[in-house]
Amino acid sequence: MSLTDSIPNNVDLASDPKLLRALEKWQPSFLQWWRDMGPDGFQEDLIWLRTAVSVDPDGWAHYDYVKMPDYRWGIFLTPQKGGGMIKFGDQQGKPTWDQVPGELRGILRRIIVTQADTEPASVEQQRMLGKTAPSLYDMRALFQVNVEEGRHLWAMVHLLHQYFGKDGREEAEGLLERRSGDKDKPRILSTFNEKTEEWLSFFMFTMFTDRDGKYQLASLAESGFDPLARATQFMLTEEAFHLFTGETGVDRVVKRSCELTKQDPNGDARAQGGIDLPTIQKWINFWFSSAVELFGGEISSNAADYFATGLKGRYKEDKYADHRALEGVYSVDVLENGKLAKREVALRNALNEVLRDEYVDDCERAVRKWNKTIEAAGLEYRLALPSRRFNRSMGMYAGLHFALTGEPITAEEFEGKRSEWLPTPEDRAFVKSLMVPVTEPGKFANWISPPAQGVKGTPIEFEYVKFHGAGGDAE
Ligand SMILES: [Fe+2]
Ligand SMILES: [Fe+2]
Repeated sequence: MSLTDSIPNNVDLASDPKLLRALEKWQPSFLQWWRDMGPDGFQEDLIWLRTAVSVDPDGWAHYDYVKMPDYRWGIFLTPQKGGGMIKFGDQQGKPTWDQVPGELRGILRRIIVTQADTEPASVEQQRMLGKTAPSLYDMRALFQVNVEEGRHLWAMVHLLHQYFGKDGREEAEGLLERRSGDKDKPRILSTFNEKTEEWLSFFMFTMFTDRDGKYQLASLAESGFDPLARATQFMLTEEAFHLFTGETGVDRVVKRSCELTKQDPNGDARAQGGIDLPTIQKWINFWFSSAVELFGGEISSNAADYFATGLKGRYKEDKYADHRALEGVYSVDVLENGKLAKREVALRNALNEVLRDEYVDDCERAVRKWNKTIEAAGLEYRLALPSRRFNRSMGMYAGLHFALTGEPITAEEFEGKRSEWLPTPEDRAFVKSLMVPVTEPGKFANWISPPAQGVKGTPIEFEYVKFHGAGGDAE
C-alpha cells in the first residue's frame, strides 16, 4: 500500500513509471474539473470525511477533517477471489484475463466508459445541493458521496490508462469534458442528465439510481476481466454508504411527514411546512421509473453477449447452480393486442430482466421499511413502488402506457392521471421552497427527522462541517 505517493494506491504504481506519469498528467485535469463542477462553494471548508486507505475489510477507511480538493483519491483493487477462474458463460472454468482479450476490447471499453461516466455525472447533478443542506449531518453525507464518486472515476480511469493505451487516455479526457445536462456534450445515460435540485430528489437518487449502480457493479465484480472485477468489488464497499444515505434519507422524510400530518388540524403536512406522503409517492414513481431504465432492454442480445463472453455475470453468480445459462427460459410480460401476455425468452437474452428482478426486490424491501415507519405513526397511508412498466421511455414498454399497477391503459388515460402520479411543476416548486439551509450543529430543517445516530460513533450534534472563516477553530 502506498499512501504517501502522489496517487495513493495498492496497485504498485511506482513500478510502472509510464502509467504513473499518464495518471499524474490526468490528475490536474481531474482537480480542475472538481473545482469547476464539484460542490459549489464549499471547497475551502473542513469536512469530516472518510477516505479509503486500504482494502482490509476491518479497517479500510480513515475519518478526519479534510478540505475536499485535498481529498486523497486513490486506486484500490480488492485481492483476487474466485481462484482466478472465469465463473460463468462460454468460458467458464478458463483462467481469468489479466489483459484485455483483443476481440473483446471494444465492448469492454464501452462497458468501462459507460460506468465511469456516471460517476462524475452525479457529482455535477448534485453540485448546488450543499447550499440547501437540511443539516450538517446531511451536508457531510452529500460531500462523502461526491468525493467517493470522484474516486470511482479514478478507479475506472486507472483501467482505461493501464489497459487501453491511447484510446483509453482519450476516453479519460472525455470523461472530464462531458457535462451533465449539457446540450452539446451530455453525459452518456439520460438519467444522469436529469437535474437534482432539491434534497428529496437527492435521497431518491441515492436510493434508486445509485442502487442500479450497485447491481451493475456487482455483476461487473463477477467479470472474467480480473482488474475490472477487483476494482468494482472495492467500489461496492463505498457504495453501501450511498445507498444507506438514500434509504434512510427517504425514511427520515417519511417520519417527519407523518409527525406533521398528525400535528395539522386538517392532516395536511404541507400546511406545516413538510412534504406530504402523496408527494413522496410521486417522487418514488418518478425516480424508480427512471432508474429501472438503466438495466437496459427486457430482451437483449447485448446482455446475452456480455454473459457468454464472460464480461458481465449475474448478481452473486455463486448462488446459481447453472453458470452457463444455456438451458432455462424466462417469462417476460409483453403487450399483445392491448393485453398483457407471457412470452418465454431464452434465459441469456433475459439477463437484464433477471438483474432488474434483484433490484426491484431490494427496492420493495426498502418500501416495506418506510411503510413500517408510517404504520408506527398510526397513519393509514402506504407507499408503493410503481410497476416496472410504468412511465418507461426505453425497452419494450416504451411508447406504451401503463397504470402504476402495471395494467395497460390508453395515452389519454395516462395523461389524465399524470399530475396525480408524477411530480408537477407546482410540486417541484413547493418542495424547492422548503429547501432552506440549516448549518447549526445538531439542528435539522423542519421537513426531515434527525437520523437514528451520528456517523461512526459521533453524536448527531457533531460539527461535521467546519466553515472557513467561521471562527478560530476552523483551521
Ligand atoms: Fe459510484
Ligand atoms: Fe454512489
